[in-house]
Amino acid sequence: MEIEFVAAQAALADKTALAVIVFEGDVLAGAAGELDAQAGGALGRAVDGGRFTGAKGQVLDVHGAPGVSPRIVLVGAGKAEAFDDLAVENAAASAYGAVKASGLTVLRLRLPKDGAHTAAQAALGVRLAAYRFDRYRTKEPAEKKPTVIKTQIVTGEADAALAAFPPYAALADAVAFSRDLVSEPPNVLYPEEFARRVKALESLGLEVEILGEAEMAKLGMGSLLGVGQGSTRESQLAVIKWYGAKDKKAQPIAFVGKGVCFDTGGISLKPADGMEDMKWDMGGAGAVAGLMHVLAGRKAKVNAIGILGLVENMPDGNAQRPGDVVTSMSGQTIEIINTDAEGRLVLADAVWYCQDRFKPKFMVDLATLTGAIIISLGNDYAGLFSNNDELSANLLAASTAEGEPLWRMPLPSQYDKNIDSAIADMKNTGGRPGGSITAALFIQRFVNGVPWAHLDIASTAWKKPSSVPTIPEGATGYGVRLLNRMVADKYES
Ligand code: BES
Ligand code: MN
Ligand code: ZN
Repeated sequence: MEIEFVAAQAALADKTALAVIVFEGDVLAGAAGELDAQAGGALGRAVDGGRFTGAKGQVLDVHGAPGVSPRIVLVGAGKAEAFDDLAVENAAASAYGAVKASGLTVLRLRLPKDGAHTAAQAALGVRLAAYRFDRYRTKEPAEKKPTVIKTQIVTGEADAALAAFPPYAALADAVAFSRDLVSEPPNVLYPEEFARRVKALESLGLEVEILGEAEMAKLGMGSLLGVGQGSTRESQLAVIKWYGAKDKKAQPIAFVGKGVCFDTGGISLKPADGMEDMKWDMGGAGAVAGLMHVLAGRKAKVNAIGILGLVENMPDGNAQRPGDVVTSMSGQTIEIINTDAEGRLVLADAVWYCQDRFKPKFMVDLATLTGAIIISLGNDYAGLFSNNDELSANLLAASTAEGEPLWRMPLPSQYDKNIDSAIADMKNTGGRPGGSITAALFIQRFVNGVPWAHLDIASTAWKKPSSVPTIPEGATGYGVRLLNRMVADKYES
């Protein structure tokens, strides 16, 4: 999607759809009124003949108005008082959604409030909404394909908007990168391929180290390696480094992602129904990779580490068994009760390695960890578990600002005994009650007292259907925006 910022008078190209974002109430005020006059009152008649009030999410589609354009849409943005950044981007995304497959090639968008920042935010909304994963479609009917390839945002501050746009564009690029990773089928995106795609991010200025099984064995990562043991694909640990702070030696912040490229459950095999969803069990790693992408893309003034534990969980003659005991890098032993509780086993070593090697200010891990978080919070909220109130507050504030809902869950010490084992230091499941909590308590045993937060994103990494116009169905990229915002607001020098 090409983005331009243009003045209201700029010449209209052929095949341009016009969209006007309007506030609830007097919908023909301002730009919509001007357009109505040019179109001989066609908009006013359409408003009178329907129930369009300008409420959030409403779209009034006017075909064939005389004069200006073959297609005019009014998009409701809700009340003027509540017109914030998220309202701007959602309205812009809805405008794009209304005309994307109209046959027209350009969308010109007018906003009810001017300013460089507002214009850039609208452009971000369109970029996020225009994301598609279509590389494996060879026979899509032409009439279903999007036709809009350029969006012009009308603003009186075109130069300033263009100057303000790069960090937004970097974010849109990073979200798309993350969504691509999560969307790829598991025969294409296995651990080594994931690692290669991350290695390619060195072109953005990131440093990327890839550890294979031999190196991880040397480090004693028996917990992570046990998960990948039944797979013919080699497990990988990707270490992504961004040193953007003035002081390259300043203590970094760190992010760790669960990257189970496919989760069959292993010997504790999952049922067939819906198992294909487990291709996106690397959504945590996808989010961390996307975060590192945007930090480098916008040259964030921070030192940050991203660590991805990349494995495939398969049943096989060599696969890990329920009853096995593995030794983690921390030295703690784990009795495997259920090989389908594999994400925490991957994180145990990835998180330990992270704090051991980098001594970070804090660690945030992201993981599609438990089905139980979907039962607890439904399909919109991710679960936050943390040993640190300040970090939690920062995450929650960023979540609200970016529209990636997050809800803090408890980490009660009295549940910790549920993962004690009779024969090892712990076991990898704590039973059905509070399943997301005992999973988080398990990870907590490997953070070594470092300020830490765990985001269980099993509920939010994939959307079907989606009710947010900036998030097309499928991979959401959840976490990239939230973490990018938290870094920008709280941790840059
Ligand atoms: N990857 C799954 C969790 C998951 C479920 C992610 C649904 C996305 C959608 C995880 O590895 C898993 O299998 N968890 C088990 C844990 C149980 C065996 C203790 C679960 O949630 O059932
Ligand atoms: Mn599993
Ligand atoms: Zn899993």
